[in-house]
Amino acid sequence: MTDLIKFWAVVPAAGVGKRMNADRPKQYLELAGKTVIEHTLLRLLGAEVFDAVAVAISEEDPYWPDLEVSENEKIVTAPGGKERADSVLSALKSIRVVASDNDWVLVHDAARPCVTATDIHFLINSLLNDEVGGILALSSHDTLKNVQGISIIGTLDRRRIWRALTPQMFRYGLLKSALEAAEGNPAITDEASALELQGLQPKIVEGRPDNIKITRPEDLALAQFYMEQQND
Ligand code: CTP
Ligand code: MG
Repeated sequence: MTDLIKFWAVVPAAGVGKRMNADRPKQYLELAGKTVIEHTLLRLLGAEVFDAVAVAISEEDPYWPDLEVSENEKIVTAPGGKERADSVLSALKSIRVVASDNDWVLVHDAARPCVTATDIHFLINSLLNDEVGGILALSSHDTLKNVQGISIIGTLDRRRIWRALTPQMFRYGLLKSALEAAEGNPAITDEASALELQGLQPKIVEGRPDNIKITRPEDLALAQFYMEQQND
């Protein structure tokens, strides 16, 4: 008998949003009538593929319980960690009783509220038969320079450089063990890097440019603009 493969979403949402310089973590800022994290979670739920969405929330977070979405039956929470990778591992552990090693996990930043069902389905369909898994990514339109101090010491081959987005999609067992092996390593800034450290080669899947991460104050207006343009 073959087990039915399930899909789980993991959302790290325990950051403080230092670069945003606001009065609260950026995931709780308002954007088009809802908080950023509500948009993100409603879009993941709206993709209708996930058995559950595991969200890592800081233990000092007073905002989360006030959101209606926190009571959604498909949403479970886990304590956030010191770094993003710690929060992701904590969320993975919170579903260990229900998830199987072969299930797929899509890790998606709470701070990317413009993600579309199209992007989620395209990522899943592209990687469903892949051994390792992979990530949504964008190529760079600008010429990229290698710089020391303020001096250019070379030009990078743009065709070989991609920007890593989320969701990032890996098997539950592989992702959990890769993150455990990399615990405390500051070079692990996304899930793919934890797998790369294991000698594996995750794939890239070209994502949509509207799937931006809210990082700095000007990104909120840009996210609002993209949302107004989206009709899927
Ligand atoms: N994140 C997390 N736990 C941490 C740090 C980050 O769950 N210890 C989450 C953030 O909430 C965000 C995602 O990881 O949804 C991407 O991180 P980033 O954009 O860097 O958010 P912050 O760390 O909050 O922002 P900053 O780096 O500006 O402080
Ligand atoms: Mg950060």
